[in-house]
Amino acid sequence: MKSELETARLRLRPFRDGDLDALTSMFSDPIAMRYLGGPRDHERCLNDLRKYVATWELHGAGPLAVVRKRDERLVGRSGLWPCKVDGVIELEVGYFIERESWGQGYATEACRAVLAAAIEHGIDRIVALVALDNIASIRVAEKSGLKFEKTTTIESERLQLYVNANR
Ligand SMILES: CC(C)(COP(=O)(O)OP(=O)(O)OC[C@H]1O[C@@H](n2cnc3c(N)ncnc32)[C@H](O)[C@@H]1OP(=O)(O)O)[C@@H](O)C(=O)NCCC(=O)NCCS
Repeated sequence: MKSELETARLRLRPFRDGDLDALTSMFSDPIAMRYLGGPRDHERCLNDLRKYVATWELHGAGPLAVVRKRDERLVGRSGLWPCKVDGVIELEVGYFIERESWGQGYATEACRAVLAAAIEHGIDRIVALVALDNIASIRVAEKSGLKFEKTTTIESERLQLYVNANR
């Protein structure tokens, strides 16, 4: 899959070492990280950065840095992750936006770009896994054209599985 995507306001590109401080700043926010296992420190973020690079090398797809074009600020993370749901390996679209940039449509813009690139690449099934009470994330999934398929449990957490409808 393409690793460089562009939308009206955003550029999605592979993460690089220079993103570590900005990533740590985004991921140290306990409110934004509520559904992602809680805040992460610098060392954990360094580990995350290495995993992002390895995911691309292994799968030809993976997490991408979401950069706002007007000021080159790292505002989030999106892209695709392999995950196991009810014994089946799925490709999950993920989206995270720093708290101060919420509510401006960035997650939806990034998610739509990732879905379009995946479909163009021939990936025909993409899912999103969302906590039952993560209303903003459910809205992003819906606005990106994903449809609710089922509720599932992963590591004791109840999650809703949304699936792309264009298959
Ligand atoms: C979920 C998240 C990515 C949304 O990012 P965003 O850039 O603010 O999303 P958008 O602006 O594209 O859309 C958000 C939608 O949710 C709605 N929304 C936000 N909070 C809401 C709430 N508490 N109740 C109802 N709707 C809410 C917004 O109004 C908007 O919908 P609308 O366009 O119909 O008005 C962001 O909140 C985030 O990063 N959260 C932490 C990480 C996370 O939970 N990621 C998802 C894991 S599955």
